[in-house]
Amino acid sequence: MAIVSFLSAKGSPGVTTTALLAAALWPRPAVLLEADPAGGDVAARVPALDGGVLDPDRGLLPLLTSARRGLSAAQVLEQTQHVAGGSRVVVGLGSSEQSLAAGAGWSALAVAVRGLDRGAEPVDVVVDAGRVGAHAVHLDLLRASDLVVLVVRAEVAAVLHARERLRALGGALRRPDGLLPRLGTVVVADLRRRARDADEAADVLTAVGAWADDFGRLPLDPAGARVFDGALASRPERTALVRAGRTLVTDLFTAAHGGTAGRAA
Ligand SMILES: Nc1ncnc2c1ncn2[C@@H]1O[C@H](COP(=O)(O)OP(=O)(O)OP(=O)(O)O)[C@@H](O)[C@H]1O
Ligand SMILES: [Mg+2]
Repeated sequence: MAIVSFLSAKGSPGVTTTALLAAALWPRPAVLLEADPAGGDVAARVPALDGGVLDPDRGLLPLLTSARRGLSAAQVLEQTQHVAGGSRVVVGLGSSEQSLAAGAGWSALAVAVRGLDRGAEPVDVVVDAGRVGAHAVHLDLLRASDLVVLVVRAEVAAVLHARERLRALGGALRRPDGLLPRLGTVVVADLRRRARDADEAADVLTAVGAWADDFGRLPLDPAGARVFDGALASRPERTALVRAGRTLVTDLFTAAHGGTAGRAA
């Protein structure tokens, strides 16, 4: 079992899109946990498997609300819903107020998700951790992850903000045993015309430390991204985003399952 968390430093580089893509293409059964403290988008963006609307009252809110009484891995699975395309999702919160009110519930959630390690049902967890700043309420969830992936666009200001966030996470995610989850970046860029910019962005970000990985690239592909924004697409597998996503997700899967012991910080 592995936990893979996607996050951003600033702006909206495509964390939710990338997390939905990863959950859809994950080689083993996976659950998408929509844990953006600013509130979730999936219920508004993606239809349920039957074409209807996802139940917004089922998901992270009941989990965090009941977390004060302790939370089990089984309860996390009970709050999943199937979305169009077949992925299983724990729908996120309605607002950042709910996320603040959850308080220590976030830490109980991290323990419960990690507890899936011992469950009867083998399932990996893809986390949409949203934008992460200095006062992130869900650092324990990131710390419990096997892989933490910072999504960034290949633009100067975005890369500089991402570099600072990566540096900070290199300290903040250190576990009591001194190890870090595997930590790195996915650069989103116009790969046909600006591939060099993407490589330069990755070079700047991996220079933060030997522990900072370059996990790969995703193309800027509005048509592909719309597939994960509720648009009907006749052949989503043909979009540049999904085609590139297959390679990236295979690499992330291998990294997530190869390094559960974490890395020396
Ligand atoms: N690879 C991509 N190519 C083109 N457009 C993209 C790509 N990824 C995301 N987008 C578009 O960018 C916008 C923001 O994407 P998304 O909601 O996934 O970002 P986010 O980082 O989760 O943002 P937020 O911080 O608001 O949650 C959406 O309109 C989405 O369709
Ligand atoms: Mg998002």
